[in-house]
Amino acid sequence: MSKVVIAVDGPAGSGKSSVSKAAATRLGFGYLDTGAGYRALTLTALNNQLELETVGELNLGELFAYEISTDPDNYWVRVDSGDVTEAIRSKDVELNVSKVAAQPKVRAFMRDITRSIARNCPKPGIIVEGRDITTVVMPDAQTRVLLTASEEVRLSRRSIDLQADGSISAQVSDRDKKDSKVVDFLNPAPGVQLLDTTELSFEESVAALVDFINR
Ligand code: DC
Repeated sequence: MSKVVIAVDGPAGSGKSSVSKAAATRLGFGYLDTGAGYRALTLTALNNQLELETVGELNLGELFAYEISTDPDNYWVRVDSGDVTEAIRSKDVELNVSKVAAQPKVRAFMRDITRSIARNCPKPGIIVEGRDITTVVMPDAQTRVLLTASEEVRLSRRSIDLQADGSISAQVSDRDKKDSKVVDFLNPAPGVQLLDTTELSFEESVAALVDFINR
């Protein structure tokens, strides 16, 4: 296991990915985006025309040869050695990922993959971000943070990210609603620090996270 583990959870558009990545660069730590695993599995299921709702019943270790970079300055995602960094952000994946992420067997599989990738990260520490990292995957992390922002701010950050039409707002709220039935990433669990970035710029958010970690 890396010496230091920082767990960061939060909803879509909270800025947790970009803030965690920048904080990792600043600290010389690794960075692990756990949502990418759920996205890549969804993409694999779509490409193979598998039943999304029951994909967790399959032998995922065999089906899914997954790799992700933990270098915050060189981010990539691969399945079967092919690059899927862009493909996992498609609308099709966006619309279907909650069906895959809702399955307990998928979540247990991803939890084990996440722990193994974090353990093998060569840096002195790693920031792991997702929805259930502070509570389920890395409950013993040295720093646990729930990063959030008002719904309005999250939607506007997300639509800038996706350069999308108005339908994205509905999709993001809808996805958060579905996902939060499976894991609570809207309220901090006991011992988890809340970082509300509603009023903060990107730079201020990174500085606040680094400050939480240094403390
Ligand atoms: O962070 P993201 O939007 O890339 O996550 C994609 C999906 O994966 C999201 O709908 C919720 C799910 N997810 C999850 O259930 N648990 C995690 N630790 C990370 C993501």
